Amino acid sequence: MAAARALLRLLLPPLLLLVLPGPAGAVWPQPQAQHSPPGGGRCPLPPGQFRFAAADGSAVGPGCDVLDSAFQRYRALLFARPTENEPPWGTPCTQLLVYVAMPGCDGFPNLDSKESYKLIVSKGSMLLSAEAIWGVLRGLETFSQLVGRDENGTYYINETEIVDFPRFPHRGLLLDTSRHYLPLRAILETLDVMAYNKFNVFHWHIVDDPSFPYESSTFPELSKKGAFNAMTHVYTASDVRAVIDYARLRGIRVIPEFDTPGHTLSWGPGAPGLLTPCYVVQEPSGTYGPINPILNSTYEFVTSLFQEVSSVFPDFFLHLGGDEVDFTCWRSNPKIQAFMKEMDFGDDYKKLESLYIQRLLEIVSSLGKGYIVWQEVFDNDVVVRPDTIIHVWKENLLTPYKEEMANVTRAGYHALLSAPWYLNRISYGQDWMEAYRVEPLDFRGSPEQKALVIGGEACMWGEYVDVTNLTPRLWPRAGAVAERLWSNSTVRNMDDAYARLSEFRCTLLGRGVQAQPLYVGYCENEFGEV
Ligand SMILES: *[C@@H]1O[C@H](CO)[C@@H](O)[C@H](O)[C@H]1NC(C)=O
Ligand SMILES: *[C@@H]1O[C@H](CO)[C@@H](O)[C@H](O)[C@H]1NC(C)=O
Ligand SMILES: *[C@@H]1O[C@H](CO)[C@@H](O)[C@H](O)[C@H]1NC(C)=O
Ligand SMILES: *[C@@H]1O[C@H](CO)[C@@H](O)[C@H](O)[C@H]1NC(C)=O
Ligand SMILES: *[C@@H]1O[C@H](CO)[C@@H](O)[C@H](O)[C@H]1NC(C)=O
Repeated sequence: MAAARALLRLLLPPLLLLVLPGPAGAVWPQPQAQHSPPGGGRCPLPPGQFRFAAADGSAVGPGCDVLDSAFQRYRALLFARPTENEPPWGTPCTQLLVYVAMPGCDGFPNLDSKESYKLIVSKGSMLLSAEAIWGVLRGLETFSQLVGRDENGTYYINETEIVDFPRFPHRGLLLDTSRHYLPLRAILETLDVMAYNKFNVFHWHIVDDPSFPYESSTFPELSKKGAFNAMTHVYTASDVRAVIDYARLRGIRVIPEFDTPGHTLSWGPGAPGLLTPCYVVQEPSGTYGPINPILNSTYEFVTSLFQEVSSVFPDFFLHLGGDEVDFTCWRSNPKIQAFMKEMDFGDDYKKLESLYIQRLLEIVSSLGKGYIVWQEVFDNDVVVRPDTIIHVWKENLLTPYKEEMANVTRAGYHALLSAPWYLNRISYGQDWMEAYRVEPLDFRGSPEQKALVIGGEACMWGEYVDVTNLTPRLWPRAGAVAERLWSNSTVRNMDDAYARLSEFRCTLLGRGVQAQPLYVGYCENEFGEV
């Protein structure tokens, strides 16, 4: 035993030898302001009597599917464990009144959605008020994390007052369903945990080189020939609809990414003539490169595909990719060489790439959509609309992301940060801390520039991730990004974050999420126990 402990000492950094679970009733991500009266009271929540109800004058009430389904979900989450029938002490809190100022329930959340809320628990009354239904969702999550159980198993909540709102409006998570297919169920479960973390954007990197699982109604051959398995490893129209609806009920936007002109090998078999044939000496080699940018047929194809995508996905924004275009194949192709000469592009294949992206952006604009692109599009001086969002992902010595954030915002574009948040990368120890320490606005720039940063995204690329390890690799590590994007920038204390994140992870286990441990310790209820 002592030997084991000594060995443990050797293996683990002496940092943070906390083994106790964190404080009950701590909220992750931390609210903007919370006031709990010293020596304040608390009230029991008897599951049999407890209900959610619309407050007088609320602009939205029963019949709003977003609220009704949230009440159902949170009732199940709140009272998952067995309890006494009658609370043995105190005047019970029997209802949470919900007040919404702005009418509206039918739409989808968007970049401007109001997520702020206020929660007051005092002397037997509980009120959750919000500008819009999306704020109610965030407030319900907070409420659920405040509820504890006393030593006899009675549910209760402490008196408190919370005023809360997100620091950034775009708080995303990227999942890659091309390198490995993720079953629909895994995506839906991830959306649940995103909502627990107050994430509000699901960036669906749906297709890429390895496979094309999106079933297109316009071009059914794409998935027939490009999916790993056209019967089992595809997202049908009804699957996609299910993801969008499930996300909406949780206040999460779905932004699909159809990355071009690179990252498109899986498109080739189902779209003859779309990809560039590569040559060796003067002969086609039988392999293919990026989308062929010199053919009119390419733009006809792209127009039809994005017409479909624009109508399937309701969000204003599409992610158009534009990263990592390999020029080797374009360079080898005699027709492309001739085109380069004709256009006077010299040997600058970035100009050819720009020509393609330029036309793509015009097509997507004309469909009434906005777009997000990876940083290369900006780096290569492609002319983009002023409201374009540039997604910063590169993190190396030559292209430090802070400098890129400065450059992008100096040029007046909106920026989205992912470079330090590639959570598919793992290392021994508490690597959530590195993600947590990031400060998105820590770059050289004016206040106007900082105001152009709309948020960030945690990325889970799929090379080494499928349904077996997705959940433990994501959670609670992505929670570090969630808090960085939601809470005040001054919320940075590592010991406090460690205690709250450990506790939050225990909450996730209680909700059936296989979240991995941060470090040594235990949860009152381990995974699989009720
Ligand atoms: C309620 O407050 C007490 C006293 O501050 C604290 O010990 C306890 O952990 C709190 N419980 C919850 C669920 O917030
Ligand atoms: C728990 O139950 C015991 C035995 O009935 C009682 O003495 C104790 O006060 C209860 N604790 C609370 C917090 O109600
Ligand atoms: C491509 O389209 C342009 C403009 O519509 C037209 O001028 C050109 O002839 C077309 N090229 C081919 C090869 O069809
Ligand atoms: C930012 O812009 C400067 C000036 O144009 C340039 O020298 C630098 O390489 C850019 N940084 C990045 C990361 O692209
Ligand atoms: C963030 O916290 C600081 C320090 O407590 C405070 O001065 C500031 O007003 C807070 N920011 C917001 C947006 O509430």
